[in-house]
Amino acid sequence: MSASARVAPQVHKIDIDWVRRQFPALQQTANGRPAVFFDAPGGTQVPQRVIDAISEYLSKWNANLGGAFVTSQRSELIVEQAHQAMADFFNSSPDEVVFGANMTTLTFAFSRAIGRELKSGDELLVTCLDHDGNVSPWVCLEERGAKVRTADIQPADCTLDMFDLQAKIRRTTRLVAVGWAANAVGTINDVQEAIRLAHAVGAMTFIDAVHYAPHGLIDVKALDTDFLVCSSYKFFGPHQGILYGKREQLLRLRPHKLRVGSEKLPDRWETGTQNHECMAGVTAAIDYIAEVGRHHSSATHTRREAIVAAYEVFQQHERQLADQLIRGLLGIPGLTFYGITDPAKADQRTPTIAVRIEGYTPRELATHLGERGIFTWDGNYYAINLAERLGVQQSGGMLRIGLAHYNTTEEVDRLLTELRALPERSKTE
Ligand SMILES: Cc1ncc(COP(=O)(O)O)c(C=O)c1O
Repeated sequence: MSASARVAPQVHKIDIDWVRRQFPALQQTANGRPAVFFDAPGGTQVPQRVIDAISEYLSKWNANLGGAFVTSQRSELIVEQAHQAMADFFNSSPDEVVFGANMTTLTFAFSRAIGRELKSGDELLVTCLDHDGNVSPWVCLEERGAKVRTADIQPADCTLDMFDLQAKIRRTTRLVAVGWAANAVGTINDVQEAIRLAHAVGAMTFIDAVHYAPHGLIDVKALDTDFLVCSSYKFFGPHQGILYGKREQLLRLRPHKLRVGSEKLPDRWETGTQNHECMAGVTAAIDYIAEVGRHHSSATHTRREAIVAAYEVFQQHERQLADQLIRGLLGIPGLTFYGITDPAKADQRTPTIAVRIEGYTPRELATHLGERGIFTWDGNYYAINLAERLGVQQSGGMLRIGLAHYNTTEEVDRLLTELRALPERSKTE
């Protein structure tokens, strides 16, 4: 069974009114129309409880750690609770959870540490599908004599070419860095297989779960990865990066750290003073996800079980929305679709959809929609290898429509109506 296909409790159909009431931003209007947030892969909106947790920390508990007074003691508790919340989210131990500024900064910290033990001729594998956050930190290690190889994609549906990936994992491979899901086109990769192949040659694995985390359940035990990293601003929390590392790897590798810093886990990796208010916000985001699970299923006892149920709810709803959106888009004249469209492969994609429409640049499309209160992204979203591979980098990338569980069928209809109403333009206009 794949790590993403856990047995989950029975859940009710999404109570979308309840969900949307949790998010104050969703009540906004833009240019006189209800705002439609289809910008989730760039960052999701946050529920009220996250806003409350951050402001409560700053108004009541703001202090550094280690003091003999109540605000400092409370701050320590908040830090501990955030590690426990993320351990429930990852299905790991709290001391295997490392907080940092964001995914990119954490990944650079680990690439510097891994670089310390590389020898000339060692190889690292990245992919052509991924965000540069899981590419450049490894390419930097070429300065130390390592060689970076890149696994290709099948451009027809933007899926990872697993034969190419397998062929490029060799005895000299020290690390395989793969995204769980592609932030540009939504492909979910078979990371379980990539991890199996990497471990078979003794290589470490570094999984970028930033785009996967709002859409799919993470279980690092089932996955057996060495490292996995995500960012809570993509899953209803504040701007904060979080990494899971296997305990033996976190103890074995040598971080770049201050002499005065503790050698305990996870402190040896959490350099400097952490963002306590955002940690309080992360706990609240995880509690929101668990609350979704509890609201839609009575069969949840622990927070982890409630999280498992929540992802069941997210997936049922998101797949329905993605299906509606993909079918609608495929009927629009002059539209090029990048990624999986086959409904039989709905479980191999997130509801993140990339397109172009003949005669319009992606920026023009995003501007047109933005003026009508529909927020989408245009560009390469830092998936630069992919934009180049697809030949769209020089012409503005793609229009990205990124759904989250708080979106509705009415919102998808509104977007389709706007795109259908666009005057047809030929390429040369
Ligand atoms: C798939 C993916 N990986 C990595 C990142 C970088 O994350 P961060 O902004 O936390 O550095 C992003 C951000 O968009 C992303 O979508």
